[in-house]
Amino acid sequence: MADTIETLLKETRTFKPPADFKRRAAVRSAAIYRQASNGRLRFWASQARELEWMKRWHKVLDWKPPHAKWFVGGKLNASVNCLDRHVRTAKRNQVALLWEGEPGDRRAITYWELYREVNRFANVLKGLGVKKRDRVAIYLPMIPEAVVAMLACARIGAPHSVVFGGFSAESLKDRINDAQVRVLITADYGHRRGRRVELKQNADDAVAGCPSIEHVVVVQRDRVDTKEASAVAMKPGRDHWYHDLMREAKPSCKPAVMDAEDMLFILYTSGTTGKPKGIVHTTGGYLTQALATTRLVFDLRDDDVFWCTADVGWVTGHSYIVYGPLAAGVTCVMYEGTPDWPDKDRFWDIVERYGVTVFYTAPTAIRTFMKWGAEYPKQHDLSTLRLLGTVGEPINPEAWMWYHRHIGRRKCPIVDTWWQTETGGIMITPLPGVTTTKPGSATVPFPGIDATLLDDDGNEIKTGGGFLAITSPWPGMLRTIYGDDKRYRDTYWSKWPDIYFPGDGAKRDEDGYLWILGRVDDVLNVAGHRIGSMEVESALVDHPAVAEAAVVGKPHELKGQALSAFVILRSGYAFSDGLANELKQHVAKKIGAIARPDDIIFSADLPKTRSGKIMRRLLKDIASGRALGDVTTLADPNVVATLKKKYEGTE
Ligand code: WT7
Repeated sequence: MADTIETLLKETRTFKPPADFKRRAAVRSAAIYRQASNGRLRFWASQARELEWMKRWHKVLDWKPPHAKWFVGGKLNASVNCLDRHVRTAKRNQVALLWEGEPGDRRAITYWELYREVNRFANVLKGLGVKKRDRVAIYLPMIPEAVVAMLACARIGAPHSVVFGGFSAESLKDRINDAQVRVLITADYGHRRGRRVELKQNADDAVAGCPSIEHVVVVQRDRVDTKEASAVAMKPGRDHWYHDLMREAKPSCKPAVMDAEDMLFILYTSGTTGKPKGIVHTTGGYLTQALATTRLVFDLRDDDVFWCTADVGWVTGHSYIVYGPLAAGVTCVMYEGTPDWPDKDRFWDIVERYGVTVFYTAPTAIRTFMKWGAEYPKQHDLSTLRLLGTVGEPINPEAWMWYHRHIGRRKCPIVDTWWQTETGGIMITPLPGVTTTKPGSATVPFPGIDATLLDDDGNEIKTGGGFLAITSPWPGMLRTIYGDDKRYRDTYWSKWPDIYFPGDGAKRDEDGYLWILGRVDDVLNVAGHRIGSMEVESALVDHPAVAEAAVVGKPHELKGQALSAFVILRSGYAFSDGLANELKQHVAKKIGAIARPDDIIFSADLPKTRSGKIMRRLLKDIASGRALGDVTTLADPNVVATLKKKYEGTE
């Protein structure tokens, strides 16, 4: 990254909300912060009233730390909120999804059409024996059927577990088994950078090790007339074509009456052990926060075209492609492929053709666009854009300024939104018509959110650096880790009593603005994707040549962080470039391409403290070239010993 933390914290530029933006904004006055802090529960209850409830709650919050229940006694259905209430109005003919496939195929789907498709698929799932509370896994490309499948699950009360299509068969298998999933929805393949992603093949490999799976529904990615054209193997009795099942299904399915605290979905994310955590979100609180933040942070109105470039496999896609925007009733763009296919202007071409007004992406993408050059956005008319957002990792001021100039044409406010899979929705963010922004700062907590900085002992830090902490429960918070409440308590609630620890470090300036500095645990953030060092280490030691492995992050210009793996070989194996490549490939196969290490550093020894803990700071310095220059091997045990000595006492 071009900016260091030091330059980040010297950033003094400020940007007031532009007058013409402010005039039309959903929130124009900072009074909302005072109102929310004077009556936090009243504020959230007023946001919850924006949803359609089948039965009103009798208590806003029941807090028995660390377990929260929001909108106790309330009943609702998420798919009703995203569909039924819109199709009763003139909105029924408004486009819900403007979808574009990577090869250039397009579909515009109205709320009415989406409603019918979701109802049909809900009946399909019922026909396959899926009942309320049964888990369904979704392993699909970015195609409309992913949204249909999620909302159909919500309609019948079956929690979905969406697994990002870039994950490997083995990752899919582990996630299916952890949640004891009965039905898997996948596709024959997806399109990515001009190539086919063989999802059905991966699904078959996964399901071979998943005794709980009864049925696999397969979407045909390219709507060809003959089944034979999509030459994937179908296992009779287990595998079914989506289009065959849909042909028979009725387009109306009564929505399940769900308790506010019934599970809406599980989404797996990486932690500090080798095993991903199944983050559990429930219905009423999650949907309240998704909708409130969609309306107030993205300022969305009926005539907006919103494009969140995330994949539905991540929480950003759940909250800001599906639940938030569809509950708000806006038109969303959904794109299947990469930004450089067929050329590096694909995103700007999409913005121009659909007249996108609000655009939400990740800093890693912005840094990539910067590197490609301003000539790509310049080829397109981006004048419809009125608001920009970022999420997923700290944005360096240089990238923020480029985004402001070349995409926002100096006119659009930028909302840098901090949140996590666990928080369900945005937590720290500007309100675009109210907050003066500073490049690189996520600014202040959203109304009704109590976020602050604490030191190890739980003392509040007014200005300076500390650990980010959330001191009151919030509606979209995770309720537990699926099947492992102890891990839920240990991971998030044990650092300070009854206070949530997100795992991020941050700094607060004199104006009270928060500057997120990144993870303080062994979780890495590679191109906005969360990866646990231990997961990659487990994948490496699974290879017969590897005795021990330690994985750390090193700064990377585009990805923010890249992975460096230190590896000790078993006797009988010798290090070579060939083996290094084989190990990288092994990790990609075990977890997915996003976890492939950039460097493999063969080592005779790993620096450990006396208690046996790996000295990660030393390894990080080595990986970043700070300690040794360009290191590819640490074969001489003395090298590590010497370095270790140098660092001893500092760890
Ligand atoms: C981690 C959560 C929330 C959707 C995408 C990632 C980092 C997220 C920001 C931001 C600085 C950020 C944090 C956080 N992060 N947004 N605006 N500024 N850092 O979700 O995979 O659960 O990762 O992403 O480190 O803990 P996730």
